Amino acid sequence: MPDTDEHRDLQTDDLLWWQKGVVYQVYPRSFLDSTGDGVGDLPGITQRLDYLAWLGVDAVWVSPFYPSPMADFGYDVSNYTDVHPMFGTLDDFDCLVAEAHARGLRVILDWVPNHTSQEHPWFLESRSSRTNPRRDWYIWRDPSPSGGPPTNWLGFFGGSAWELDEATGQYYYHAFLPEQPDLNWRNPDVQSAMLDTLRFWLDRDVDGFRVDVIYHLLKDDQFRDNPLNPDYKVGDRPYTQHLPIHSADLPDVQAVVSMIRKVVDEYPQRVLIAELYLPLERIVAYYGVDGSGAHLPFNFRLIFTPWDAQQIGALVDQYEGLLPPGGQPNWVLGNHDKSRIATRVGPAQARVAAMLLTTLKGTPTMYYGDEIGMHDVRIPPELLQDPVARSLPGLGLDRDPQRTPMQWGAGANAGFTNGTPWLPIADDFAQINVEDQREDPASLLTFYRSLIQLRRDEPALHAGTYERAPAAGDVLAYLRAGVGRGFLVALNLGSQPQPFEHGRLEAEARVTLSTLPDRSLGPTAGPITLAPNEGVILELR
Ligand code: GLC
Repeated sequence: MPDTDEHRDLQTDDLLWWQKGVVYQVYPRSFLDSTGDGVGDLPGITQRLDYLAWLGVDAVWVSPFYPSPMADFGYDVSNYTDVHPMFGTLDDFDCLVAEAHARGLRVILDWVPNHTSQEHPWFLESRSSRTNPRRDWYIWRDPSPSGGPPTNWLGFFGGSAWELDEATGQYYYHAFLPEQPDLNWRNPDVQSAMLDTLRFWLDRDVDGFRVDVIYHLLKDDQFRDNPLNPDYKVGDRPYTQHLPIHSADLPDVQAVVSMIRKVVDEYPQRVLIAELYLPLERIVAYYGVDGSGAHLPFNFRLIFTPWDAQQIGALVDQYEGLLPPGGQPNWVLGNHDKSRIATRVGPAQARVAAMLLTTLKGTPTMYYGDEIGMHDVRIPPELLQDPVARSLPGLGLDRDPQRTPMQWGAGANAGFTNGTPWLPIADDFAQINVEDQREDPASLLTFYRSLIQLRRDEPALHAGTYERAPAAGDVLAYLRAGVGRGFLVALNLGSQPQPFEHGRLEAEARVTLSTLPDRSLGPTAGPITLAPNEGVILELR
C-alpha cells in the first residue's frame, strides 16, 4: 500500500470517505475460492479487488475470517487476532489490506464482541471451575430457585438462552447458539482484552469495523425476566414471544459503545458501524451523545418495509426526522442474514432498488452479488449448512439461500471454485454472472456501476439534502440538492405505467439515468410517464 496516511488524505473535500462512499459486504466463504477446497478465502478476495475498484465501491466489509469451529460460520470466534487456515494467513490478510489500499479501497472488519466460541481459551478457562479467574468473563448464574434457567430469556436461535454446565452446576448465557457464550462486558478485564483486539487490527491498518449485535453487549444486572410480547402470534419466530427489554438494547450499553468508539478514534479516519435490529427511534440512539457512538448505526429498515412507495417514503421521512445533528444516515438492502433484494422485490424492481439505495441520502451498503441480481437459492434439506436451519427447522429462517457462491462467469462452478462449492450455486449462473454482465451495457451490473459513478461525481447525490417530492400512486420521488447540481429522483415501485409531474420539470431538465435501458437520455420538459418498474434520475436546471 502507498503510505497509509497519504492514502487517507486523498480527500477531495472535507467529507470523510465513509460519508461519501459505498460499502460492499463480502461473505468470505462465498466470494472466491483460491485453493479448491470449495470455500472462499482471503486471497480470493484479493484477486477480485480490481473488480471492486472497477465497480466503484469505496470499502469492502469482510464478514468474519477468524479461527472458529464454525458453529455459526465464523460468528463464533475462538481467536480474535488470527486468520482461520481455511481463509488463509495473517500474511494473506496484510496482502489484502495492502492491495486494497493500493487501489483506494478501504477494508472494514467484522468484529464479534458479544460472544466468543465455546472453544475460545477464555471460555474453556471460565467453565473449568467456579473459582477460575476468568469465571466472571462470561455470564454465569445459579439455577432459578425452582431449578431450571435463571431467567426466561430466550435464545435468538431458539430455546432458552441459558445452558446448564453440569460440571459446575451453573448456567451460562448465550444470546445466540449454546456454542456462542456471551462475554461479560461489565467486567473491566473483558473490556480491555476485547478493546485490545481492535487495536491489533487497527495497527494492521484496517479502516474500520462492523460490530456484530452491538446492542446485545449488556444485559440487565438484576436479571429480571423479559415480559411477554402481546403481539406474538403462533407460528412466529419463538424468540419474539418476549419483549427482550432486559436482555438487549439496555440504556447503559451506550457507555460501552463509546468505549469502543474511543479506541477507533485513536486512529485517524476509521469508521465504526453498528449492527442493530431495532426500530428507527432506537437505531438513532447509537449515534451517541455528541457523536460519541457509532458513525453508522446500521439502518436495516428498507429490508423490513413493504415495497410500497408511500411506506418507503414515510420511512425515509421518519428517519430523516430522527437523525441527530451531524449524524450520517445510511441504508442497507440486504446482507448475509436476510433474503436477497432480487428475491424480495423481483428482478425488475431490483433495478429500482439499486437506484433507491444509491440516491438516498446516506452511506449505502451493498451485499455481494446483489449488483448482478443474484437471488436466493433453494437449498435441498440434505445440503443445508446454516445452524439456524437445524435449530429452527421449517420456519424458513435459514440463511443459506442468500449465502451461495458469487457468480463470476458462465464456466464450471460459476468460476467460484475448482472444487465442490460449500453451498450449491444458483442454476441460472450461466445467465446471471459478472463476466457476461460486464460486457452488456443493459445489464444490472453496468447499471449499478453507472449509479455508483454518478453518486461519486455528483456532490448533490453523495452530500446534498433530501426532500421528498409529492407523487401519487406507486411513485416515490425526492430531490437531492444543495451542493452542486440538483437532481429529482422518481421511482415507480409498481408494474403499471405512472404519470409523474413536478414543478421543477416545467423548465428543461435532463434524464441522466433510467433503470430501463431504452429510455432516451437527455433533455425533457413537463410531466413524464414512468414505465412499469422504471426509476429515473433527472438533472434539474
Ligand atoms: C449477527 C450476524 C449473524 C450471526 C449473529 C450471531 O446478527 O450477522 O450472522 O449469526 O450475529 O453472531
